[in-house]
Amino acid sequence: MLESWEELYEECMNCQKCPLCETRTNVVFGQGNQNAKVLFVGEGPGENEDLTGQPFVGRGGQLLDKLLNIIDLDRNKNIYIANMVKCRPPKNRDPKKEETDICINYLRNQVYLLKPKIIVCLGRIAATSLIDPNYKVTKQHGEFILKNGIWMTGTFHPAALLRNPCNKPDALEDFQKLREKIKEVCPETYENISKGE
Ligand code: URA
Repeated sequence: MLESWEELYEECMNCQKCPLCETRTNVVFGQGNQNAKVLFVGEGPGENEDLTGQPFVGRGGQLLDKLLNIIDLDRNKNIYIANMVKCRPPKNRDPKKEETDICINYLRNQVYLLKPKIIVCLGRIAATSLIDPNYKVTKQHGEFILKNGIWMTGTFHPAALLRNPCNKPDALEDFQKLREKIKEVCPETYENISKGE
């Protein structure tokens, strides 16, 4: 494990470990407060993310920001956002198993440095990789399970909510439950969290 964010960022930025490096514009390393105790994990960069180098900047990202703001979370202040894969899969296809298998080491190192108390999986790809290979978002969203000392939960991917707005009330409920969990296990999220770089 690399012991500093700077080293990890540098290595990730120069990564050529899988073919996604050949088609990427930018590596999308992650964004947020490096002292945060709540980590959100998406699937992988889309077109807008590939172009800007930041996670969740398209329409899905705007919806995610709305849901975050409802429970007083802010991607620049008290959470961290990362993805399963750091480079865009061509035509937004799902990342392949061999791509996530390689790239997950960057996420593991991010978890090692961040030491989150809560990980929120956004959508099936993150939830089946990080919580349970048989995870069903429609059935299990909003449930918390403790895994290796970290509270894990899953909810709908913002892009899925844009496609199926009927799931928005359920997603909102998941975020309300998340607020309660944060107050229970890492209340500093809502108090005086120091600013990370
Ligand atoms: N979808 C994701 O899963 N992650 C992003 O960063 C953008 C869209």
